[in-house]
Amino acid sequence: MASPQPTEPRLYIGLMSGTSLDGIDGVLFDAASLAVTGHVHNPFPPALRDELLALNGPGDNELHRAALAANAVACGCADVVAQLLEATGTRREQVAALGAHGQTVRHQPDGPSGYTVQLLNGALLAEQAGIDVVCDLRSRDVAAGGQGAPLVPAFHRAVFGSAGRDVAALNLGGIANLSLLFADGRTGGFDCGPANCLMDGWIARHQGRAFDADGAWAASGRVSPALLATLLAEPFFMQPPPKSTGRDLFHLGWLQSRLTPGLAPQDVQATLLELTARSAAEALRAQMPGAAALIACGGGARNGRLMQRLADLLPGVAVSSSAAHGLPVDQVEAAAFAWLAMCFVERRPGNLPAVTGAAGPRVLGALYPA
Ligand SMILES: Nc1ncnc2c1ncn2[C@@H]1O[C@H](COP(=O)(O)OP(=O)(O)O)[C@@H](O)[C@H]1O
Ligand SMILES: [Mg+2]
Repeated sequence: MASPQPTEPRLYIGLMSGTSLDGIDGVLFDAASLAVTGHVHNPFPPALRDELLALNGPGDNELHRAALAANAVACGCADVVAQLLEATGTRREQVAALGAHGQTVRHQPDGPSGYTVQLLNGALLAEQAGIDVVCDLRSRDVAAGGQGAPLVPAFHRAVFGSAGRDVAALNLGGIANLSLLFADGRTGGFDCGPANCLMDGWIARHQGRAFDADGAWAASGRVSPALLATLLAEPFFMQPPPKSTGRDLFHLGWLQSRLTPGLAPQDVQATLLELTARSAAEALRAQMPGAAALIACGGGARNGRLMQRLADLLPGVAVSSSAAHGLPVDQVEAAAFAWLAMCFVERRPGNLPAVTGAAGPRVLGALYPA
């Protein structure tokens, strides 16, 4: 009897830079085995980070500045691709396509004039990388009446779904999004609120640090029940899915307008961490009351304090990191965009209408051939 032939690898690269604006994660991904075989993370140069942050709001000459930033993001992506190929000994001809998210600077998907903007010069990336680029992965879902987000639940289903029990995946990036992988095969998902974007902004303002490592500064403060209640009164938290959000809503001005004088900065940080944990836990309890497990990914899964609060608030739910399921926390989202590029190449829909609210399944993305 012939021994089974090993499956040929089908290589894709996924490039992700999320709302945290911490930089670009790139992975080499084998769509045949659903395995990541290489990972590179390059932080954004501080000036580019500042400019991308500024472009989240209206400003002077923003079309020109957005075009320059889109070029810079493309160059940053091309650097990550070159490093990935070098580190893994891969030739670019072996890679079927790049799935490149780009940098979200506006996300206003609702209504007939809804739109979402991810800055990335796909033509420049194709030119520099010499590999087919699939980008602008959210707009088609928005055009079909969807939120354009989250797009990762289908991938989470493929890698974390488990027969016989309800499992949720929680991505703790700048924004938090939940994927609901029901035992009966249904998949749900939605953005549930801020994860790190407010905590990052607050600690940057008060301590000049990019993020609160392990939630240590938050742990030095005390949660303000009054502020927590005020923040949780934001209508977004009560809105039923489908829903998505971004820095358009959750920015420091949103927090500032809800602060009362006299709160110590570390108490505000403690309250922001609690807000992330509470909003995610309550959303999970409301939408998947029978959840047996919660698998966390994204940089916030490195925040021990946040992970502990999630576990405290979700008795009976096994809270773990995606690393325990074979995918390190900072590789999951980039792998999802490699997987979405594979969907595009195979002309398979990448969205789940039940998640995004789109009128139907759609092939997502635009192609810039190598
Ligand atoms: N050790 C850590 N402790 C606490 N937070 C962390 C740690 N490492 C990363 N983070 C948080 O994770 C964020 C990056 O997460 P990431 O998943 O890349 O988000 P995004 O998808 O929005 O870019 C950082 O901005 C920071 O807030
Ligand atoms: Mg990131």
